[in-house]
Amino acid sequence: MKCQLCKSEAILRSPRLCETHFIEYFERKIGKFIDKYRLKNKKLLVTISGGKDSVVISYVLSKLKEKYNLSLEYFFIRLGIPYFTEKSEEIAKNVTDKIGYPLTIYDLKEKEGFVIPDIKYKPCSYCGMIRRYILNRYAYENEFDYIVMGHNLDDEVFFIFNNLFGKNIPQIQRTGPLTETIKEKKLIGRIKPLYYLTEEEILLYAKLNNLPYIGCACPNSIESTQKKFKSNTVFTREQKLNLVYSILEIKKYLPEEEIEIKFCEKCGYPTTSNVCKFCRTKEKTQKGELKQKRKR
Ligand code: FES
Ligand code: ZN
Ligand code: ZN
Repeated sequence: MKCQLCKSEAILRSPRLCETHFIEYFERKIGKFIDKYRLKNKKLLVTISGGKDSVVISYVLSKLKEKYNLSLEYFFIRLGIPYFTEKSEEIAKNVTDKIGYPLTIYDLKEKEGFVIPDIKYKPCSYCGMIRRYILNRYAYENEFDYIVMGHNLDDEVFFIFNNLFGKNIPQIQRTGPLTETIKEKKLIGRIKPLYYLTEEEILLYAKLNNLPYIGCACPNSIESTQKKFKSNTVFTREQKLNLVYSILEIKKYLPEEEIEIKFCEKCGYPTTSNVCKFCRTKEKTQKGELKQKRKR
């Protein structure tokens, strides 16, 4: 199988490219994303979890920094999950050392007084909310333009199907490669530069560039629906791309969501209730109320 651009051996079937042309193609795609969503000269908060996606996007953005005049800060949240957090932190440090950047570490225990293992019931769903809250608050306080997320094309395909299967149309409205920053609402937008790239392409890019990443998933998410979905479905890269393009098109016809945003009585950050979920979780955890498994 030959590369579609030169006579060298191709390392991937779709797109059919050799090593050199694949790396060029991959980085060009991220560059195009920066152009398309006008991210030139922006201040970006890059969160590294230690997984392949965050490691790859951290690395590519550091390579494109000069060309697009990006201002980058790399951020790691120490969640306190035994072994997993230590291993992820080691990888985040390795990556930032490799690209010559400092790593900001946010220690959940030190700053907020609890760790994820204090939450015994569905810790992953709380963990996602906690990470989103911390990132948004840090990005707002430090005047970032956007938060960089590592979501890829396969994540997005799962998100779309999962919400279609659950008849959850308002969630579909929230999908997409970028959400806008609304400073008056203290909401910092999120960008997903890997949105148009598959997991296979990301893994290959990591391998070709000798990038370390954590091979195991969060110990609390072993049986996740997403994992099952990914291992049970076979879509081609074109089908996945066509699905997200179609959804982005359909979104234009969906009515804009009207959510009334209030500011949390305790922390002052956006919420839909009087006290935000983060503050409620923090309080319950400190009182030990999230330490027991719920009875089913
Ligand atoms: Fe954080 Fe599972 S507990 S992802
Ligand atoms: Zn080639
Ligand atoms: Zn709050």
